[in-house]
Amino acid sequence: MGIESPPSPAVQMRGITKRFPGVLANDHVDLEVYPGEVMALLGENGAGKSTLMNVLSGLYRPDEGEILIHGWPVHLHSPRDAIAHGIGMVHQHFMLVETLTVAENVILGLDTVGWVPRMEEVHRQIEALSEQYGLRVDPTAYIWQLSVGEQQRVEILKLLYRGADILILDEPTAVLTPQESADLSRTLRRMADEGKAVIFITHKLDEVMAFADRVTVLRAGKVVATLRTAETNKVELARLMVGREVLFRLEKRTCQPGEVALEVKDLQALNDKGLPALRGVSFQICAGEILGIAGVAGNGQRELAEVITGLRRATGGSVRVYGRDITNRSPREIIEAGISHIPGDRVGVGLVPNLPISDNLAMKAYRHPPLARGPLLDRSAMRDFARRLVEAFRIATPSPQTPARLLSGGNQQRVVLAREITASKGILVAVYPTRGLDVGATEAVRKALLEERDKGAAILLISEDLDELMQLSDRIAVLYEGQVMGVVVPEETTPEAIGLMMAGQRAEE
Ligand SMILES: Nc1ncnc2c1ncn2[C@@H]1O[C@H](COP(=O)(O)OP(=O)(O)O)[C@@H](O)[C@H]1O
Ligand SMILES: [Mg+2]
Repeated sequence: MGIESPPSPAVQMRGITKRFPGVLANDHVDLEVYPGEVMALLGENGAGKSTLMNVLSGLYRPDEGEILIHGWPVHLHSPRDAIAHGIGMVHQHFMLVETLTVAENVILGLDTVGWVPRMEEVHRQIEALSEQYGLRVDPTAYIWQLSVGEQQRVEILKLLYRGADILILDEPTAVLTPQESADLSRTLRRMADEGKAVIFITHKLDEVMAFADRVTVLRAGKVVATLRTAETNKVELARLMVGREVLFRLEKRTCQPGEVALEVKDLQALNDKGLPALRGVSFQICAGEILGIAGVAGNGQRELAEVITGLRRATGGSVRVYGRDITNRSPREIIEAGISHIPGDRVGVGLVPNLPISDNLAMKAYRHPPLARGPLLDRSAMRDFARRLVEAFRIATPSPQTPARLLSGGNQQRVVLAREITASKGILVAVYPTRGLDVGATEAVRKALLEERDKGAAILLISEDLDELMQLSDRIAVLYEGQVMGVVVPEETTPEAIGLMMAGQRAEE
Protein backbone atom coordinates (compact mmCIF):
# COMPACT_ATOMS: atom_id res chain seq x y z
CA MET A 1 0.00 0.00 0.00
CA GLY A 2 1.28 3.42 -0.89
CA ILE A 3 1.46 6.17 1.65
CA GLU A 4 -1.13 8.85 1.02
CA SER A 5 0.20 12.33 1.41
CA PRO A 6 -1.98 14.28 3.83
CA PRO A 7 -4.31 16.76 2.15
CA SER A 8 -3.36 20.40 2.55
CA PRO A 9 -5.57 22.42 4.90
CA ALA A 10 -8.58 24.25 3.48
CA VAL A 11 -8.23 26.84 6.23
CA GLN A 12 -5.21 27.98 8.19
CA MET A 13 -5.70 30.72 10.73
CA ARG A 14 -2.38 31.78 12.22
CA GLY A 15 -1.94 33.93 15.28
CA ILE A 16 -5.36 35.55 14.95
CA THR A 17 -5.94 38.25 17.55
CA LYS A 18 -9.13 40.27 17.79
CA ARG A 19 -9.75 42.95 20.41
CA PHE A 20 -12.92 44.76 21.34
CA PRO A 21 -12.81 47.72 23.71
CA GLY A 22 -11.71 46.18 26.99
CA VAL A 23 -11.94 42.60 25.71
CA LEU A 24 -9.37 40.33 24.12
CA ALA A 25 -11.85 38.11 22.26
CA ASN A 26 -9.24 36.07 20.31
CA ASP A 27 -5.68 35.78 21.56
CA HIS A 28 -3.19 34.49 18.95
CA VAL A 29 -5.45 31.70 17.77
CA ASP A 30 -4.15 29.00 15.42
CA LEU A 31 -6.72 26.84 13.67
CA GLU A 32 -6.52 24.42 10.78
CA VAL A 33 -9.40 22.74 9.03
CA TYR A 34 -9.03 20.12 6.32
CA PRO A 35 -11.22 19.27 3.34
CA GLY A 36 -13.40 16.28 4.14
CA GLU A 37 -13.68 16.83 7.88
CA VAL A 38 -16.19 18.12 10.37
CA MET A 39 -14.43 20.24 12.97
CA ALA A 40 -16.12 21.36 16.17
CA LEU A 41 -15.21 24.66 17.75
CA LEU A 42 -16.01 24.15 21.43
CA GLY A 43 -16.04 26.66 24.26
CA GLU A 44 -18.09 28.27 27.01
CA ASN A 45 -20.13 31.40 26.44
CA GLY A 46 -17.80 34.26 25.71
CA ALA A 47 -14.83 32.05 24.82
CA GLY A 48 -14.47 33.82 21.47
CA LYS A 49 -15.94 31.23 19.09
CA SER A 50 -18.31 33.48 17.17
CA THR A 51 -15.69 36.21 16.95
CA LEU A 52 -13.13 33.84 15.44
CA MET A 53 -15.60 32.60 12.84
CA ASN A 54 -16.76 36.13 12.09
CA VAL A 55 -13.13 36.86 11.26
CA LEU A 56 -13.01 33.83 8.96
CA SER A 57 -16.27 34.78 7.26
CA GLY A 58 -15.11 38.31 6.50
CA LEU A 59 -17.36 40.10 8.99
CA TYR A 60 -14.52 41.25 11.29
CA ARG A 61 -10.95 42.22 10.44
CA PRO A 62 -8.37 40.65 12.77
CA ASP A 63 -5.99 42.96 14.65
CA GLU A 64 -3.16 40.51 14.12
CA GLY A 65 -2.56 37.25 12.32
CA GLU A 66 -3.11 35.82 8.89
CA ILE A 67 -5.51 33.56 7.07
CA LEU A 68 -4.59 31.10 4.35
CA ILE A 69 -7.23 29.45 2.18
CA HIS A 70 -6.07 26.34 0.34
CA GLY A 71 -2.55 27.50 1.09
CA TRP A 72 -2.93 31.06 -0.19
CA PRO A 73 -2.89 34.13 2.04
CA VAL A 74 -6.14 36.07 1.75
CA HIS A 75 -7.46 39.39 2.97
CA LEU A 76 -11.15 39.20 3.66
CA HIS A 77 -12.81 42.60 3.75
CA SER A 78 -16.43 41.44 3.70
CA PRO A 79 -18.62 38.32 3.69
CA ARG A 80 -18.74 38.80 -0.07
CA ASP A 81 -14.95 38.46 -0.22
CA ALA A 82 -15.19 35.37 1.94
CA ILE A 83 -17.78 33.68 -0.25
CA ALA A 84 -15.63 34.46 -3.29
CA HIS A 85 -13.02 32.30 -1.55
CA GLY A 86 -15.61 29.60 -0.90
CA ILE A 87 -16.22 30.50 2.76
CA GLY A 88 -19.78 30.80 4.02
CA MET A 89 -21.30 31.09 7.49
CA VAL A 90 -24.74 30.38 8.91
CA HIS A 91 -25.18 32.81 11.81
CA GLN A 92 -27.15 32.20 14.97
CA HIS A 93 -29.66 34.76 13.83
CA PHE A 94 -30.80 33.99 10.35
CA MET A 95 -30.57 36.62 7.65
CA LEU A 96 -33.48 35.66 5.42
CA VAL A 97 -36.15 37.90 3.94
CA GLU A 98 -39.48 36.67 5.33
CA THR A 99 -41.61 37.97 2.46
CA LEU A 100 -39.58 36.25 -0.26
CA THR A 101 -39.64 32.61 -1.26
CA VAL A 102 -36.93 30.07 -0.52
CA ALA A 103 -35.61 30.29 -4.09
CA GLU A 104 -35.68 34.08 -4.10
CA ASN A 105 -33.67 34.11 -0.87
CA VAL A 106 -31.19 31.64 -2.27
CA ILE A 107 -30.39 33.81 -5.29
CA LEU A 108 -30.70 37.12 -3.42
CA GLY A 109 -27.59 39.27 -3.74
CA LEU A 110 -26.02 37.23 -6.51
CA ASP A 111 -24.73 39.29 -9.43
CA THR A 112 -27.79 39.21 -11.60
CA VAL A 113 -27.34 42.54 -13.38
CA GLY A 114 -28.66 42.11 -16.87
CA TRP A 115 -29.70 38.59 -16.04
CA VAL A 116 -33.26 37.63 -15.40
CA PRO A 117 -33.17 34.50 -13.27
CA ARG A 118 -35.16 31.65 -14.72
CA MET A 119 -36.97 30.57 -11.62
CA GLU A 120 -37.76 27.06 -12.85
CA GLU A 121 -34.08 26.51 -13.39
CA VAL A 122 -33.28 27.87 -9.90
CA HIS A 123 -35.95 25.59 -8.39
CA ARG A 124 -34.41 22.59 -10.12
CA GLN A 125 -30.95 23.47 -8.86
CA ILE A 126 -32.21 23.91 -5.31
CA GLU A 127 -34.06 20.61 -5.46
CA ALA A 128 -30.89 18.90 -6.66
CA LEU A 129 -28.89 20.35 -3.77
CA SER A 130 -31.66 19.48 -1.29
CA GLU A 131 -31.58 15.93 -2.53
CA GLN A 132 -27.79 15.67 -2.50
CA TYR A 133 -27.38 16.94 1.07
CA GLY A 134 -30.64 15.87 2.68
CA LEU A 135 -31.94 19.42 3.13
CA ARG A 136 -35.67 19.04 2.65
CA VAL A 137 -37.39 22.33 1.83
CA ASP A 138 -39.88 23.55 -0.78
CA PRO A 139 -38.20 26.17 -3.02
CA THR A 140 -41.52 27.90 -3.69
CA ALA A 141 -42.49 28.32 0.00
CA TYR A 142 -42.25 31.74 1.64
CA ILE A 143 -39.79 32.08 4.51
CA TRP A 144 -42.54 33.13 6.91
CA GLN A 145 -44.24 29.80 6.30
CA LEU A 146 -41.21 27.80 7.41
CA SER A 147 -40.20 26.38 10.77
CA VAL A 148 -36.91 27.48 12.26
CA GLY A 149 -35.32 24.20 11.24
CA GLU A 150 -36.41 24.71 7.63
CA GLN A 151 -35.11 28.27 7.63
CA GLN A 152 -31.75 26.96 8.73
CA ARG A 153 -31.76 24.57 5.77
CA VAL A 154 -32.39 27.55 3.47
CA GLU A 155 -29.35 29.32 4.95
CA ILE A 156 -27.23 26.26 4.25
CA LEU A 157 -28.64 25.88 0.72
CA LYS A 158 -27.82 29.51 0.07
CA LEU A 159 -24.15 28.82 0.81
CA LEU A 160 -24.09 25.59 -1.18
CA TYR A 161 -25.71 27.36 -4.13
CA ARG A 162 -22.82 29.85 -4.06
CA GLY A 163 -20.41 26.96 -4.20
CA ALA A 164 -19.06 27.30 -0.66
CA ASP A 165 -16.58 24.56 0.21
CA ILE A 166 -15.79 25.90 3.67
CA LEU A 167 -18.97 25.99 5.73
CA ILE A 168 -19.29 27.48 9.20
CA LEU A 169 -22.37 27.02 11.41
CA ASP A 170 -22.73 28.98 14.65
CA GLU A 171 -24.51 26.89 17.30
CA PRO A 172 -26.81 25.37 14.69
CA THR A 173 -28.58 22.91 16.98
CA ALA A 174 -29.70 25.49 19.53
CA VAL A 175 -32.98 25.92 17.65
CA LEU A 176 -33.56 22.31 16.59
CA THR A 177 -35.45 19.29 17.90
CA PRO A 178 -33.35 16.14 18.50
CA GLN A 179 -34.55 14.69 15.15
CA GLU A 180 -33.66 17.84 13.29
CA SER A 181 -30.24 17.82 14.99
CA ALA A 182 -29.68 14.24 13.85
CA ASP A 183 -30.67 15.24 10.29
CA LEU A 184 -28.29 18.16 10.44
CA SER A 185 -25.47 15.93 11.58
CA ARG A 186 -26.06 13.73 8.52
CA THR A 187 -26.02 16.79 6.27
CA LEU A 188 -22.72 17.94 7.75
CA ARG A 189 -21.28 14.49 7.19
CA ARG A 190 -22.39 14.45 3.55
CA MET A 191 -20.82 17.82 2.98
CA ALA A 192 -17.56 16.57 4.45
CA ASP A 193 -17.78 13.41 2.32
CA GLU A 194 -18.03 15.66 -0.73
CA GLY A 195 -14.69 17.14 0.27
CA LYS A 196 -15.96 20.27 1.97
CA ALA A 197 -14.48 21.58 5.22
CA VAL A 198 -17.18 21.97 7.86
CA ILE A 199 -16.80 23.95 11.08
CA PHE A 200 -19.55 23.99 13.63
CA ILE A 201 -19.61 25.98 16.83
CA THR A 202 -21.10 24.45 19.95
CA HIS A 203 -20.86 24.34 23.71
CA LYS A 204 -22.46 20.90 23.89
CA LEU A 205 -20.11 18.00 24.48
CA ASP A 206 -22.50 15.32 23.20
CA GLU A 207 -22.63 17.02 19.83
CA VAL A 208 -18.89 17.28 19.57
CA MET A 209 -18.57 13.57 20.15
CA ALA A 210 -21.45 12.68 17.79
CA PHE A 211 -20.82 15.08 14.88
CA ALA A 212 -17.14 15.93 14.66
CA ASP A 213 -13.90 14.32 13.53
CA ARG A 214 -11.77 16.83 15.38
CA VAL A 215 -12.38 19.50 17.97
CA THR A 216 -10.61 22.72 18.85
CA VAL A 217 -11.32 23.98 22.36
CA LEU A 218 -11.28 27.72 23.04
CA ARG A 219 -11.10 29.14 26.53
CA ALA A 220 -11.01 32.88 27.22
CA GLY A 221 -9.97 33.61 23.64
CA LYS A 222 -7.14 31.08 23.48
CA VAL A 223 -6.89 27.65 21.93
CA VAL A 224 -6.37 25.21 24.80
CA ALA A 225 -6.39 22.01 22.73
CA THR A 226 -7.05 20.47 19.35
CA LEU A 227 -7.97 16.79 19.51
CA ARG A 228 -9.41 13.94 17.49
CA THR A 229 -12.83 13.07 18.92
CA ALA A 230 -11.93 9.38 18.64
CA GLU A 231 -9.08 10.00 21.06
CA THR A 232 -10.88 12.05 23.70
CA ASN A 233 -14.03 11.96 25.82
CA LYS A 234 -16.59 14.27 27.35
CA VAL A 235 -14.89 14.47 30.73
CA GLU A 236 -11.61 15.60 29.19
CA LEU A 237 -13.36 18.08 26.90
CA ALA A 238 -15.35 19.55 29.79
CA ARG A 239 -12.19 19.98 31.82
CA LEU A 240 -10.45 21.70 28.92
CA MET A 241 -13.41 23.93 28.25
CA VAL A 242 -13.95 25.00 31.86
CA GLY A 243 -10.40 24.72 33.16
CA ARG A 244 -11.21 22.37 36.03
CA GLU A 245 -12.95 19.08 36.74
CA VAL A 246 -16.69 19.09 36.15
CA LEU A 247 -19.19 16.88 37.89
CA PHE A 248 -21.32 15.00 35.43
CA ARG A 249 -23.57 12.69 37.32
CA LEU A 250 -25.52 14.92 39.59
CA GLU A 251 -26.84 13.09 42.59
CA LYS A 252 -30.46 12.26 41.98
CA ARG A 253 -32.27 10.22 44.56
CA THR A 254 -35.39 8.37 43.62
CA CYS A 255 -38.43 10.49 44.17
CA GLN A 256 -40.48 9.95 47.29
CA PRO A 257 -43.79 11.26 46.12
CA GLY A 258 -45.66 12.91 48.97
CA GLU A 259 -49.00 14.49 48.50
CA VAL A 260 -49.83 16.38 45.35
CA ALA A 261 -48.38 19.86 45.77
CA LEU A 262 -49.36 21.42 42.46
CA GLU A 263 -52.22 20.30 40.28
CA VAL A 264 -53.06 21.81 36.91
CA LYS A 265 -56.28 20.67 35.30
CA ASP A 266 -57.46 21.28 31.74
CA LEU A 267 -55.69 24.63 31.72
CA GLN A 268 -56.42 27.01 28.86
CA ALA A 269 -54.94 30.40 28.08
CA LEU A 270 -54.28 32.79 25.22
CA ASN A 271 -50.93 34.13 24.06
CA ASP A 272 -50.08 37.82 23.60
CA LYS A 273 -51.70 37.77 20.16
CA GLY A 274 -54.96 36.49 21.64
CA LEU A 275 -54.54 33.04 20.10
CA PRO A 276 -54.88 29.79 22.10
CA ALA A 277 -51.53 29.02 23.73
CA LEU A 278 -52.64 26.41 26.26
CA ARG A 279 -55.28 24.01 25.07
CA GLY A 280 -56.20 21.81 28.01
CA VAL A 281 -53.00 21.11 29.95
CA SER A 282 -53.22 18.76 32.95
CA PHE A 283 -50.56 17.39 35.31
CA GLN A 284 -49.71 16.92 38.98
CA ILE A 285 -46.43 17.45 40.81
CA CYS A 286 -45.79 15.82 44.16
CA ALA A 287 -43.73 17.29 46.97
CA GLY A 288 -40.15 16.19 46.41
CA GLU A 289 -40.59 15.81 42.68
CA ILE A 290 -39.29 17.61 39.60
CA LEU A 291 -41.62 17.61 36.61
CA GLY A 292 -39.75 18.70 33.50
CA ILE A 293 -41.52 20.37 30.59
CA ALA A 294 -39.92 19.62 27.25
CA GLY A 295 -40.81 21.23 23.96
CA VAL A 296 -39.55 23.52 21.26
CA ALA A 297 -39.78 27.09 22.57
CA GLY A 298 -43.06 28.77 21.73
CA ASN A 299 -45.33 25.80 22.32
CA GLY A 300 -46.98 27.25 25.42
CA GLN A 301 -44.16 26.96 27.96
CA ARG A 302 -44.06 30.63 28.76
CA GLU A 303 -47.82 30.96 29.03
CA LEU A 304 -47.96 27.91 31.30
CA ALA A 305 -45.48 29.43 33.75
CA GLU A 306 -47.25 32.78 33.62
CA VAL A 307 -50.69 31.36 34.31
CA ILE A 308 -49.44 29.33 37.26
CA THR A 309 -47.66 32.35 38.75
CA GLY A 310 -50.57 34.72 38.20
CA LEU A 311 -49.00 36.80 35.44
CA ARG A 312 -51.50 35.70 32.79
CA ARG A 313 -55.21 34.86 33.00
CA ALA A 314 -56.42 31.33 32.54
CA THR A 315 -59.41 31.24 30.19
CA GLY A 316 -60.36 27.79 31.45
CA GLY A 317 -59.30 25.03 33.81
CA SER A 318 -57.73 25.29 37.25
CA VAL A 319 -54.50 25.52 39.25
CA ARG A 320 -54.49 24.06 42.76
CA VAL A 321 -51.89 24.21 45.49
CA TYR A 322 -52.29 21.43 48.04
CA GLY A 323 -55.91 21.18 46.97
CA ARG A 324 -56.62 24.91 47.23
CA ASP A 325 -57.83 26.64 44.07
CA ILE A 326 -55.59 29.58 43.17
CA THR A 327 -56.63 30.02 39.53
CA ASN A 328 -56.39 33.65 38.40
CA ARG A 329 -55.41 34.95 41.85
CA SER A 330 -53.01 37.88 41.99
CA PRO A 331 -49.27 37.19 41.82
CA ARG A 332 -49.03 38.33 45.44
CA GLU A 333 -51.66 35.84 46.65
CA ILE A 334 -49.94 33.13 44.63
CA ILE A 335 -46.59 33.88 46.24
CA GLU A 336 -48.32 33.73 49.64
CA ALA A 337 -49.76 30.36 48.64
CA GLY A 338 -46.19 29.09 48.30
CA ILE A 339 -45.30 29.34 44.63
CA SER A 340 -42.07 31.02 43.67
CA HIS A 341 -40.88 31.74 40.17
CA ILE A 342 -37.54 31.81 38.43
CA PRO A 343 -38.61 33.73 35.34
CA GLY A 344 -37.23 33.12 31.88
CA ASP A 345 -36.27 36.74 31.37
CA ARG A 346 -34.08 37.39 34.39
CA VAL A 347 -33.05 40.93 33.57
CA GLY A 348 -36.47 42.10 32.46
CA VAL A 349 -38.48 40.51 35.25
CA GLY A 350 -36.22 38.89 37.79
CA LEU A 351 -34.03 41.77 38.92
CA VAL A 352 -34.12 45.49 39.48
CA PRO A 353 -30.80 46.24 37.78
CA ASN A 354 -30.10 49.51 39.58
CA LEU A 355 -30.83 48.30 43.11
CA PRO A 356 -28.14 46.67 45.24
CA ILE A 357 -27.92 42.91 45.38
CA SER A 358 -29.07 42.99 49.01
CA ASP A 359 -32.35 44.69 48.06
CA ASN A 360 -32.84 42.33 45.16
CA LEU A 361 -32.36 39.40 47.50
CA ALA A 362 -34.78 40.76 50.09
CA MET A 363 -37.50 41.64 47.63
CA LYS A 364 -39.75 38.76 48.62
CA ALA A 365 -38.84 38.34 52.26
CA TYR A 366 -39.16 41.94 53.41
CA ARG A 367 -42.80 41.76 54.41
CA HIS A 368 -42.10 39.21 57.11
CA PRO A 369 -39.81 38.92 60.13
CA PRO A 370 -36.89 38.88 60.53
CA LEU A 371 -36.54 41.56 57.85
CA ALA A 372 -39.74 43.38 58.81
CA ARG A 373 -39.94 44.96 62.26
CA GLY A 374 -43.54 46.04 62.46
CA PRO A 375 -44.06 48.37 59.50
CA LEU A 376 -40.31 49.06 59.29
CA LEU A 377 -37.42 47.32 57.63
CA ASP A 378 -34.67 46.00 59.84
CA ARG A 379 -31.64 47.17 57.84
CA SER A 380 -29.11 45.17 59.81
CA ALA A 381 -31.19 41.97 59.52
CA MET A 382 -31.36 42.67 55.82
CA ARG A 383 -27.57 42.97 55.56
CA ASP A 384 -27.13 39.67 57.43
CA PHE A 385 -29.70 38.01 55.20
CA ALA A 386 -27.91 39.22 52.07
CA ARG A 387 -24.48 38.17 53.34
CA ARG A 388 -25.79 34.70 54.15
CA LEU A 389 -27.30 34.21 50.66
CA VAL A 390 -24.27 35.63 48.85
CA GLU A 391 -22.18 33.04 50.63
CA ALA A 392 -24.58 30.11 50.32
CA PHE A 393 -25.14 30.63 46.61
CA ARG A 394 -21.53 31.69 45.93
CA ILE A 395 -22.55 34.95 44.30
CA ALA A 396 -19.32 36.56 43.11
CA THR A 397 -19.68 40.24 43.99
CA PRO A 398 -17.44 42.87 45.56
CA SER A 399 -20.18 43.54 48.14
CA PRO A 400 -23.91 42.97 48.77
CA GLN A 401 -24.31 46.71 48.10
CA THR A 402 -23.19 46.38 44.45
CA PRO A 403 -25.97 47.16 41.94
CA ALA A 404 -27.32 43.97 40.37
CA ARG A 405 -26.61 45.21 36.86
CA LEU A 406 -22.85 45.05 37.44
CA LEU A 407 -22.87 41.28 37.99
CA SER A 408 -22.18 38.74 35.26
CA GLY A 409 -25.14 36.81 33.87
CA GLY A 410 -24.29 33.74 35.91
CA ASN A 411 -24.20 35.70 39.14
CA GLN A 412 -27.43 37.57 38.38
CA GLN A 413 -28.96 34.17 37.89
CA ARG A 414 -27.76 33.08 41.33
CA VAL A 415 -29.30 36.17 42.91
CA VAL A 416 -32.72 35.35 41.45
CA LEU A 417 -32.34 31.71 42.36
CA ALA A 418 -31.25 32.47 45.93
CA ARG A 419 -34.18 34.82 46.43
CA GLU A 420 -36.80 32.55 44.89
CA ILE A 421 -35.63 29.44 46.65
CA THR A 422 -35.50 31.09 50.05
CA ALA A 423 -38.91 32.67 49.51
CA SER A 424 -40.29 29.35 48.33
CA LYS A 425 -42.76 27.61 50.53
CA GLY A 426 -42.63 24.40 48.65
CA ILE A 427 -43.39 25.03 44.97
CA LEU A 428 -40.96 26.40 42.44
CA VAL A 429 -41.65 27.27 38.81
CA ALA A 430 -38.25 27.44 37.07
CA VAL A 431 -38.25 28.72 33.50
CA TYR A 432 -35.08 28.11 31.45
CA PRO A 433 -33.07 28.37 34.69
CA THR A 434 -29.70 27.72 33.06
CA ARG A 435 -30.19 29.47 29.73
CA GLY A 436 -27.17 31.53 28.77
CA LEU A 437 -25.07 30.34 31.71
CA ASP A 438 -21.59 28.89 31.51
CA VAL A 439 -20.86 25.35 32.63
CA GLY A 440 -19.87 26.30 36.19
CA ALA A 441 -22.96 28.39 36.92
CA THR A 442 -25.19 25.82 35.22
CA GLU A 443 -23.90 23.16 37.54
CA ALA A 444 -24.51 25.33 40.61
CA VAL A 445 -28.09 26.04 39.54
CA ARG A 446 -28.83 22.38 38.81
CA LYS A 447 -27.44 21.31 42.16
CA ALA A 448 -29.54 23.91 43.95
CA LEU A 449 -32.68 22.64 42.22
CA LEU A 450 -31.95 19.03 43.20
CA GLU A 451 -31.24 20.09 46.79
CA GLU A 452 -34.58 21.87 46.98
CA ARG A 453 -36.29 18.85 45.56
CA ASP A 454 -34.65 16.65 48.16
CA LYS A 455 -35.87 19.03 50.85
CA GLY A 456 -39.40 18.40 49.61
CA ALA A 457 -40.05 21.13 47.06
CA ALA A 458 -42.28 20.44 44.06
CA ILE A 459 -40.54 21.86 41.02
CA LEU A 460 -41.86 22.61 37.56
CA LEU A 461 -38.78 22.82 35.35
CA ILE A 462 -39.21 24.33 31.91
CA SER A 463 -36.12 23.88 29.77
CA GLU A 464 -35.01 23.76 26.16
CA ASP A 465 -32.11 21.54 27.06
CA LEU A 466 -33.12 17.93 26.78
CA ASP A 467 -29.98 16.69 28.54
CA GLU A 468 -30.83 18.93 31.46
CA LEU A 469 -34.40 17.66 31.60
CA MET A 470 -33.24 14.04 31.43
CA GLN A 471 -30.69 14.67 34.17
CA LEU A 472 -32.91 16.52 36.64
CA SER A 473 -36.50 15.47 36.09
CA ASP A 474 -38.35 12.68 37.81
CA ARG A 475 -40.90 12.83 35.03
CA ILE A 476 -41.02 14.81 31.78
CA ALA A 477 -44.17 16.18 30.13
CA VAL A 478 -43.80 17.14 26.49
CA LEU A 479 -45.66 20.22 25.33
CA TYR A 480 -46.64 20.73 21.70
CA GLU A 481 -48.93 23.52 20.52
CA GLY A 482 -50.35 23.98 23.99
CA GLN A 483 -51.07 20.34 24.67
CA VAL A 484 -49.28 17.61 26.58
CA MET A 485 -48.21 14.92 24.09
CA GLY A 486 -47.20 12.53 26.85
CA VAL A 487 -45.49 12.16 30.21
CA VAL A 488 -42.40 9.98 30.43
CA VAL A 489 -39.82 8.84 32.97
CA PRO A 490 -36.26 9.74 31.84
CA GLU A 491 -34.79 6.35 32.68
CA GLU A 492 -37.43 4.63 30.57
CA THR A 493 -37.28 6.76 27.44
CA THR A 494 -34.88 8.11 24.82
CA PRO A 495 -34.19 11.59 23.45
CA GLU A 496 -35.60 10.35 20.12
CA ALA A 497 -38.91 9.35 21.70
CA ILE A 498 -39.16 12.75 23.35
CA GLY A 499 -38.14 14.40 20.08
CA LEU A 500 -41.07 12.76 18.28
CA MET A 501 -43.44 14.16 20.89
CA MET A 502 -41.80 17.58 20.56
CA ALA A 503 -42.70 17.38 16.88
CA GLY A 504 -46.34 16.66 17.71
CA GLN A 505 -46.62 12.90 17.96
CA ARG A 506 -48.58 11.65 20.95
CA ALA A 507 -47.00 9.08 23.24
CA GLU A 508 -48.35 5.60 22.77
CA GLU A 509 -50.48 4.51 25.66
N1 LIG B 1 -19.10 43.23 18.72
C1 LIG B 1 -18.54 43.13 19.93
N2 LIG B 1 -18.19 44.22 20.65
C2 LIG B 1 -17.62 44.12 21.86
N3 LIG B 1 -17.35 42.96 22.48
C3 LIG B 1 -17.68 41.82 21.83
C4 LIG B 1 -18.29 41.85 20.53
N4 LIG B 1 -18.49 40.57 20.14
C5 LIG B 1 -18.04 39.80 21.13
N5 LIG B 1 -17.55 40.53 22.15
C6 LIG B 1 -16.92 40.04 23.38
O1 LIG B 1 -15.89 39.15 22.98
C7 LIG B 1 -15.87 38.00 23.81
C8 LIG B 1 -16.06 36.75 22.95
O2 LIG B 1 -17.40 36.73 22.47
P1 LIG B 1 -17.95 35.67 21.43
O3 LIG B 1 -16.97 35.51 20.32
O4 LIG B 1 -19.32 36.06 21.06
O5 LIG B 1 -17.95 34.34 22.31
P2 LIG B 1 -18.69 32.94 22.07
O6 LIG B 1 -19.23 32.92 20.67
O7 LIG B 1 -17.65 31.92 22.32
O8 LIG B 1 -19.79 32.87 23.10
C9 LIG B 1 -16.95 38.20 24.85
O9 LIG B 1 -16.35 38.74 26.00
C10 LIG B 1 -17.87 39.19 24.20
O10 LIG B 1 -18.53 39.96 25.18
MG1 LIG C 1 -21.21 32.75 20.06
